[in-house]
Amino acid sequence: MNDAPIGIFDSGVGGLTVARAVSQLLPRESIVYIGDTAHSPYGPKPIADVRRYGLDVLDTLVAEGVKMLVIACNTASAALLRDARERYEVPVVEVIGPAVRTAISTTRSGRVGVIGTEGTISSGVYQDMLEVNPQLTVTARACPRFVDFVEAGVTGSSEVLAVAEEYLAPLRHAGVDTLVLGCTHYPFLEGAISYVMGPDVSLVSSDTETAKDVYHQLVSRDLLAGPDAVPTHVYEATGDSADEFLRLADRLIGRGVSSVRLVHTGAIGIPKGIA
Ligand code: DGL
Repeated sequence: MNDAPIGIFDSGVGGLTVARAVSQLLPRESIVYIGDTAHSPYGPKPIADVRRYGLDVLDTLVAEGVKMLVIACNTASAALLRDARERYEVPVVEVIGPAVRTAISTTRSGRVGVIGTEGTISSGVYQDMLEVNPQLTVTARACPRFVDFVEAGVTGSSEVLAVAEEYLAPLRHAGVDTLVLGCTHYPFLEGAISYVMGPDVSLVSSDTETAKDVYHQLVSRDLLAGPDAVPTHVYEATGDSADEFLRLADRLIGRGVSSVRLVHTGAIGIPKGIA
């Protein structure tokens, strides 16, 4: 069981930021990553649809024998975390709690900004978790085009900067000193986001903090891979083109992704072939 892989998923390539942080912290662990590209983006979709797609992916990962599930997607974490924790015996880690904890320990002024998909921001989950703390004032804003840019492999163009200026204006106006990147795609746009927000605003992303949660869960449940474990990293996508996912992943995170396999999610996960 300890040498079984960790299952990580997102609607597309965003969760690769979390997978990368997990493999940096836990280099002996094997990983199976699924990008649910057949249903990406999740952000604008009704929450019930995101819940169904997400549970189908998690069922597929469990059928593949993972020892832990990581929901490396804020929209899916907001939609299905409770269902997932009830449904599976393996531990389930998500990305919202770690980002909230980091934002609380980072802010000095108490003015915190949150950006995310429409699904995440309209769920109110970040606002609720942060505002439990009465010293915090939260300004939240959905940035739907950011995911489209990343999924198109566009991270540094002048168009990204212009859209960032528009989306982030209310956050600058509110004088936030800490900005939560509440979508795992957004770290790929960190250059534009930090340029617009300026050097005094701390950006919080969930990748490294989520990796620490994964570490903590593995240690406390005695699930760490053994010292002789030979790690494998398997990348899967649910859309039509493994090549497209591979090209995009390679452009965004480099040579860590060497091949992508297509899978069907649904009643059961059925491998479709290897690219
Ligand atoms: N990366 C995801 C998130 O953290 C989903 C983006 C999307 O599919 O819209 O919310």
